[in-house]
Amino acid sequence: MSERTIALVTGANKGIGYEIAAGLGALGWSIGVGARDEQRRNAAVEKLRAAGVQAFGVPLDVSDDASATAAAQLIEEQAGRLDVLVNNAAITGGMPQEPTGVDPATIRTVVETNVIGVVRVTNAMLPLLRRSAAPRIVNMSSSVGSLTRQSGPDAEQTAGPVSAAYAPSKTFLNAITLQYVRELSGTNILINVGCPGYVATDLNGFRGVRTPEQGAAIAIKLATLPDDGPTGQFFDDAGVVPW
Ligand SMILES: NC(=O)c1ccc[n+]([C@@H]2O[C@H](COP(=O)([O-])OP(=O)(O)OC[C@H]3O[C@@H](n4cnc5c(N)ncnc54)[C@H](OP(=O)(O)O)[C@@H]3O)[C@@H](O)[C@H]2O)c1
Repeated sequence: MSERTIALVTGANKGIGYEIAAGLGALGWSIGVGARDEQRRNAAVEKLRAAGVQAFGVPLDVSDDASATAAAQLIEEQAGRLDVLVNNAAITGGMPQEPTGVDPATIRTVVETNVIGVVRVTNAMLPLLRRSAAPRIVNMSSSVGSLTRQSGPDAEQTAGPVSAAYAPSKTFLNAITLQYVRELSGTNILINVGCPGYVATDLNGFRGVRTPEQGAAIAIKLATLPDDGPTGQFFDDAGVVPW
């Protein structure tokens, strides 16, 4: 088994996920670059290796059961265990998506990736995480999933555009994360939710105001929590985000 800390980052070929992989790799960790497209995955692995990171490609479509199972098998063969899982991959489903006009298929697709994808990958990886001395799960969510912010007086400024799929998918992800926290309480697995802020990536047509590196910082912080660190909480760079 590897002496290095082993992490898997989903959706690591670009955007915030790539920078999470780069940041954790810079700590000397071994990084599984989870990505569904072979070319984009290989390009990211090469770029990370050129930067000195011990990276390996993990073919992974989070919306596919067989892909998640195969990814766990690959990590078992490569490393024998997993220390840190960062569930970062997500889609918006395209905007606009106001509830009165949304195609229900959009909601299904977004939930399949952003929520069920996290469950699928987490459950596939749990046997490997249980072999770690200090397992961490980081679910990348968004403050637009905060019901407090969605229902508050400043929603127009703080809760993103009205959306029937993307924002509620993050609320669902937050809720299901807490169910994992409850079930796994009493284990050494720390599970937290992170929001990267409004980051310029493909996800929003590069309209975000933060860099992907800045967006990656909260995930890196939650991936490197000490054993007495928090679990079952929702953080951004400024601190606790209300559910
Ligand atoms: N950008 C923001 O302002 C912002 C704000 C709040 C939260 N977030 C969250 O931060 C995370 C990263 O977002 P980002 O801005 O970096 O987005 P991004 O640049 O669009 O990257 C998304 C990543 O997810 C991957 N992905 C999508 N569907 C997948 C699937 N079925 N299987 C495997 N990988 C899949 C994409 O791979 P492909 O290249 O193959 O499509 C890509 O690598 C997401 O969870 C997002 O919701 C972002």
